[in-house]
Amino acid sequence: MDRENDVRVLQHCLAEAGQSHLLKFWDELSVPEQQELHMELKAMDLEELGQAFQKAMIGGSRLPRQENMDAKMEPVPREVLGSATRDRTQLPTWEEEGLRQISQSKVAVLLLAGGQGTRLGVSYPKGMYDVGLPSHKTLFQIQAERILKLEQLAEKQLDRKCVIPWYIMTSGRTMELTKEFFLKHKYFGLKKENVVFFQQGMLPAMDFDGKILLEEKGKVCMAPDGNGGLYRALGAHHIVEDMERRGIGSIHVYCVDNILVKVADPRFIGFCVQKGADCGAKVVEKTNPTEPVGVVCRVGGVYKVVEYSEISLATAQKRSPDGRLLFNAGNIANHYFTVEFLRDIVNVYEPHLQHHTAQKKISYIDVATGKPLKPDKPNGIKMEKFVFDIFQFARNFVVYEVLREDEFSPLKNADSQNGKDNPTTAQHSLMSLHHCWVLNAGGHFVDENGTRLPAILRCTNGRSDAIQADVNHNLKDANDLPIQCEISPLVSYGGEGLEEFVKDKEFRAPLIIDRSGVHELVKNGM
Ligand code: UTP
Repeated sequence: MDRENDVRVLQHCLAEAGQSHLLKFWDELSVPEQQELHMELKAMDLEELGQAFQKAMIGGSRLPRQENMDAKMEPVPREVLGSATRDRTQLPTWEEEGLRQISQSKVAVLLLAGGQGTRLGVSYPKGMYDVGLPSHKTLFQIQAERILKLEQLAEKQLDRKCVIPWYIMTSGRTMELTKEFFLKHKYFGLKKENVVFFQQGMLPAMDFDGKILLEEKGKVCMAPDGNGGLYRALGAHHIVEDMERRGIGSIHVYCVDNILVKVADPRFIGFCVQKGADCGAKVVEKTNPTEPVGVVCRVGGVYKVVEYSEISLATAQKRSPDGRLLFNAGNIANHYFTVEFLRDIVNVYEPHLQHHTAQKKISYIDVATGKPLKPDKPNGIKMEKFVFDIFQFARNFVVYEVLREDEFSPLKNADSQNGKDNPTTAQHSLMSLHHCWVLNAGGHFVDENGTRLPAILRCTNGRSDAIQADVNHNLKDANDLPIQCEISPLVSYGGEGLEEFVKDKEFRAPLIIDRSGVHELVKNGM
């Protein structure tokens, strides 16, 4: 009786919201399927969804709005900008400050790992992906080892034990596999209690009339609510309280797919802390006006990320007197927040964040025929929030610019699909960087005849007078392979401490440097 009543209530709510079609196949479902669908629908706030759909369709679509945007945009002013290349003399001070904060266990990292990785096309979470490095480490392992190394560096510098807690946001689609993977690998040497998993929300996909789509007769089409779903998830799982309990002051938020990510980068943290910032963005220079990357800038007095599609080519092409693009602060989803700022976001601002819509090809059940359909053009929308949507609420926003080749190489596509941002480019960027580190530390590479390979000067991350290989030299075209060189994060976080392994020595690639020493794979027949 109770159950019948429950179902009647659900039918009524769905009818009111114009979503009655979701129960069209109710009588064909088994009892467990009915229960599951019932639970799924009951958990939805249909009124809020309807409103979000209306708002998103009016204002949230990232369709071109060029005239509006172009006139209002202002570049990031120099006084809020720190640069790893242009402020080289400041780097030691920022690094020291960052390490001090870390040594006091005041810094946490937060990983956004709830995405579906559709373009990469694997059925498991992207962090579990092995891009094919000589060590075959996964993205999760590389990040975990960087955290471990940074804890050691801070401990050594300040002579006190410390912890960098790792918060990992997953989604309904990635949670179980991610947790199992960490358990299987013993948290990669981190303490279990310092790795905190939490799950972001999901939202139903809808057609262009706001009708929720069914994935199966008894299952709604659900997708994670975007990486900006972070803020609602922080509130729902009391994560900010956990941070406060641990005495955390600063958070570094980043994406799972950037193989070069410098987790809790002490220079970035130190810069933000010394500037008294509540919110900061790490950026790389956008050099090509048509590169489809969002740029950090001011719009109507507040900070935003403006997508390439939102501005005209003429605006994208504008240059400053120094020859650089005027809007050159390329967003790499690598952010700094204070815990106070996050608390305000969760408690005050999150409900006001608007969803963005993305038109997608969504496979669904045709309610008229009950048949599954796979459209070949977009037939509906997914609603998402973005992690940078909260920049507008910052009271003291700063921007920190780094070199792309040192810090940004995202894994987005499968090798077969696209020559960009795929496992091969990720692998090559990491090995090219590590190759530079070896040269910087006084090591050399030789070819199979023992002849030294040329090292060409390259302007880089603040190591004065360092001779570095030109990484691009190695990657001129797809057939040009980089020197195979991989340094374990447990040995070096950012190129430091390598002299004892490589100074004045010659190596033949492939080369691995890990805690057990230096391994030339060919010589050793590995
Ligand atoms: P992307 O927007 O590149 O999405 O995510 P994705 O899931 O990795 O790949 P596609 O678009 O399906 O091919 C950028 C970062 O934001 C996270 C991702 O895990 C990645 O670290 N993300 C994305 C979330 O945490 N939640 C989401 O709902 C979406």
